[in-house]
Parts: sequence; C-alpha cells; structure tokens
Amino acid sequence: MSSLLSPHWHRNVRPSYFIVALMIMRAVIQLRQAEIWLALAFLHLGPGSRISYSVLTPYTSAPMRLATSDDVRRSLRATGHNRCRGSQARSACVMLRLLTPWVLLILAAPLLAHGETEATPAFQLTDTCPASFENQDGGCVLRSRYREYRSLRDAGVGGLKTGLPALREGFTPQQIDLGRYLFFDPMLSADGSVSCASCHDPAKGFADGRGQAVGIHGQVLPRSAPSLWNVGFLSTLLWDGSKGSLEEQMQGPLYSPFEMGNTPMQLLTSLNANPVYRALFEQAFDRTPITLNQIYTAITAFESSLISLNSRYDLYAHGYHEALTDTEITGLNVFRSFVARCAECHTPPLFTNQQLAVLGVADAPGELIDTGAQAVTGDASQRGAFRVPSLRNIVRTAPYMHRGQKPTLEDAARFYTGGRGHEVPEGESVMIHWHIWEPRLTDAEITSLAKFLGALTDEAFMPESPKAVPSGLPVTQGQEPMTGNSDGFGAQ
Ligand code: HEC
Ligand code: HEC
Repeated sequence: MSSLLSPHWHRNVRPSYFIVALMIMRAVIQLRQAEIWLALAFLHLGPGSRISYSVLTPYTSAPMRLATSDDVRRSLRATGHNRCRGSQARSACVMLRLLTPWVLLILAAPLLAHGETEATPAFQLTDTCPASFENQDGGCVLRSRYREYRSLRDAGVGGLKTGLPALREGFTPQQIDLGRYLFFDPMLSADGSVSCASCHDPAKGFADGRGQAVGIHGQVLPRSAPSLWNVGFLSTLLWDGSKGSLEEQMQGPLYSPFEMGNTPMQLLTSLNANPVYRALFEQAFDRTPITLNQIYTAITAFESSLISLNSRYDLYAHGYHEALTDTEITGLNVFRSFVARCAECHTPPLFTNQQLAVLGVADAPGELIDTGAQAVTGDASQRGAFRVPSLRNIVRTAPYMHRGQKPTLEDAARFYTGGRGHEVPEGESVMIHWHIWEPRLTDAEITSLAKFLGALTDEAFMPESPKAVPSGLPVTQGQEPMTGNSDGFGAQ
C-alpha cells in the first residue's frame, strides 16, 4: 500500500493509476484465494478425506459446477481411497497429513499479509475538489454566481449584484484535504493540546464563542477569534489589519507562546517523524521531506475552501425576492440606507470593505486598552482602528467586536445609534470614522437589522471534521463558550 501513497506521477494521471493498481491488487488476492482452495482440494482428495464437495463449489464458477457431476465426484473419491493402500503409500499419507497445515499456512501467509495492508488506510487524501469548486487543470476553482457580476468599483458601493475580490484558489484537492487534517491536529502545538480548531471551531462559525480567545496554557488573549468563513478573499487580516496573507498570518498562532507555543524546528521534526504525514505530504506535494512552506500552503488551501455565499440573502441578491421575510427586507434596507450606513463599511457580497475604521468601541467601561492599528503603524490617527469584519455567518460567532464587548447582534447594532464617540473614555482622543454618526435608529429598526444579519447564514459547504488525525492525538475542537468579555462588559 505504501507504493499507492507515494506515486511520482503527474497529478492528472494519478486517478487512473490508482484504479489500475487497485485492480492488480484485487486480482492478486483473488489468485491467492484460488490457490488455497485448489491446494485444499488437492490435499483433501488425498488421505481418505470425507470433505464435502460443497465446500469447494462456492469458489468454483457456475459452468464448472455443472461439469462436476456426481460421477466425476465419485471417481475422485475413489482415487483418494485407493491412494492410501500399501505401507509405502500409508507413510506418504501420514506425511501428507502432517504437512497439510503447514502448506496451507505458507500459502495463506501472503494473503493474510495482503489483508493487513489492503485494508483502506485511515488517512487517504481525496482527489475531489470541495463542494462549489471545480477541478481546472488539477487545481480547484470556485464556482459562484457572484463571479458573473462586475467588480465593486464598476457596480457602486453596496449594490447587491457586486463582484467578489480575488480568492486564493487553484490548490489541489489533496492540498486542501491535507490542510484539513493539519487544521484539526493538536500536534501542531508545542504540547499536543491545541489545534487551530480549538479557537476556530466549525460549530461556532470557525470562531470560539468567547470574547477573548484562550491560548495553550490557559492565557487569555487580548482579542476574540474571528470567523474563518470566506477568509480566502481577505487581503487584510487580523483585527488590526496587520497581516496580508494567510501563510504569514498562521505563523502568529503557531509560534506564539500564548497560542500554540510551537517552534518551526519542532513543527518540522514532529511532522517528518510521522510516517502518515510523510506519506500524505508526498501525495499532496510530490516531494519529501516536509517543508514549512508546504505546511503553510496546505493550511491556506483548506482555509480558502471555506466558502459561504449561498445564504437566503444571496438568493435574494441573485433575484429570488421570496428568499427573505418582510422584516429581513426592512433590515436590509436599513443596512443599505444612508441613515445607518452599515453597507458603506460592511460592503456586500463579503460584508467587509477590508479597510480599517475607528468606531470608538471601549474595551471595558471607560477604558480603551487595545489601541488597534496604532500599535502596528504608530499612526495616531489609527488609534483604536480595526479592520471591518465580515458579517457572514455572524449569528454563529457571538459575542461581537474585537474583544467580545457586545453579547448580541442587537447590542452590536445599537452601538451605532448610541451617538458618535459615546463610549470613548474621558481624555482619549480618537479620530472616529465619518460614517459613524447618530442615525437615531428605532428599536424596530435595530430588531430588523439583527434579523437581516441572521439571513447571512450559510454553512452548506461545511467541511467534514476528521474523527481522527494522523498524529493519533485526540481531535481538539472548540472550548466552553462564554458570553461577554472577561471584564464583564456586556450590553448597554
Ligand atoms: C489560541 C487561540 C487560537 C489558535 C490556536 C489559533 N487562532 Fe487564529 N486567531 C485567534 C485570534 C484571537 C485571532 C485574532 C487575533 C488578532 O486579530 O489580533 C485569530 C485570527 C486568525 C485569522 C485572521 C482572520 C481574519 O478575519 O482576519 C486567521 C486566518 C486565523 N486566525 C487562522 C488560524 C490558523 C490557521 C490557526 C492554526 C495554525 C489558528 N488560527 C490558531 C485565535 C487563535
Ligand atoms: C465606519 C465603518 C463601519 C460602519 C458604518 C459600520 N460598521 Fe460595523 N464594524 C466596523 C468595524 C471596524 C467593526 C469592528 C469594531 C471593533 O471590533 O472594535 C465592526 C463590527 C461590527 C459587528 C461585529 C462583528 C464581529 O464579528 O464581531 C457588527 C455585528 C456590525 N459591525 C454591524 C454593523 C451594523 C448593523 C452597522 C450599521 C448600523 C455597522 N456595522 C456599521 C465598521 C463599521
């Protein structure tokens, strides 16, 4: 089987190679079975055996069964009986009896060995692209109705039929599948206790249900874990927008002593020491040993396959107006209005324009702890600036904002109508974005906004969480949910 896991073939011809290899293996096994039954027949026809002929027939083809008529059987038996007459013949018979189990064992050994390796290995990478992707020249490319629409600049801000930004795509099915195993494998952390999925739990919209994420030794991190749905479209990553690619971003959690605590050296050593991973990486990248770039590519491939663009809202956007309820349509209209201005920053179809904006959301009552992008750029005008988050699958990822300050969607929506800078602590000077003002939204409008955001839910292309990972460690996924942040700062 190891030969099946490591073919140096071009990816496009691999599927047919697999089928041929499987056919050959099956043929070999069938041959072995035939050999054993033939041997059985031969040996038992010898020393006065009373073996019932019917034992042999199931493995004989139908035309042959017709040929073995009663008289053939009788004559065979007769020869058997006669063969043990005379002293020489008798000792030969005894020998034959003694040897029988050994001969059978020797003949059966290769079959048994085959049986072991023939069993489908627990870890095989798929050669099929994820749902909504199609295989083009060996790479998976997204199919989406949005690709028929023009880009944002052509279509105007907030238009429903707006094109998508570029997606990280073209990864092979094997790379995406390998990334899935890595994403769920706690072996990627220093002590085998934390995986990416610990903080990005599929059941919680690939977030973790906490206001502030919790790291490898229980450290409480300053910010919440964002959802990873549609993350392959984003070129501005993290709450402070400080990372530009998924490959670059993941080195943060992997090697941070507060998150997964690993080192590049230990990561490489542990993966290269694992024969299953070696075989899987060879399948996905056609070469060994495992390199850091291969690890980053595979995880990026998996993250970029998390597509959520088929919610009820999307059906509506594509022209099926019955997809949304009246309240949701009211909510959408508030969302797009120049009163609420939500769509100015949370632009469809991703519901983010990927820009930084200062909202002035306090971290705790009267406190601004997290200076956002300012800490990265040193630019005072970016004090408290955060990247506009996507709102896809937002109902799954409470609590909201960079530190989980808002427990519910209503609380998050209500923030915008609380008055410009109403949460900014005394003595702080932050340059709040000009679209943040006082829209004076009514309670009904807030409710309809929250209802509309609920229509952005689509998890149809949820990848399967592996039941086991190549390290053999228990699959970690998610942690106990909490509401509000650790400062106990909730709704207002
Ligand atoms: C200990 C919890 C934790 C672990 C483990 C973790 N993350 Fe995260 N992740 C976070 C937090 C918190 C943030 C936001 C950090 C920030 O913005 O400062 C984040 C942000 C991200 C983002 C940016 C999303 C966006 O919208 O900008 C990506 C992508 C991501 N993580 C992927 C991964 C991958 C891949 C792994 C595994 C290699 C991983 N994370 C492991 C907590 C975690
Ligand atoms: C000026 C740009 C801008 C406008 C206008 C805007 N938002 Fe936001 N939104 C942001 C930013 C930036 C954040 C993250 C802020 C933070 O964490 O401190 C955010 C966060 C959110 C969140 C929480 C997302 C999460 O993953 O935690 C929700 C919900 C939300 N906005 C809804 C709305 C609604 C509803 C409106 C209209 C009433 C609106 N936004 C208008 C920029 C904007």
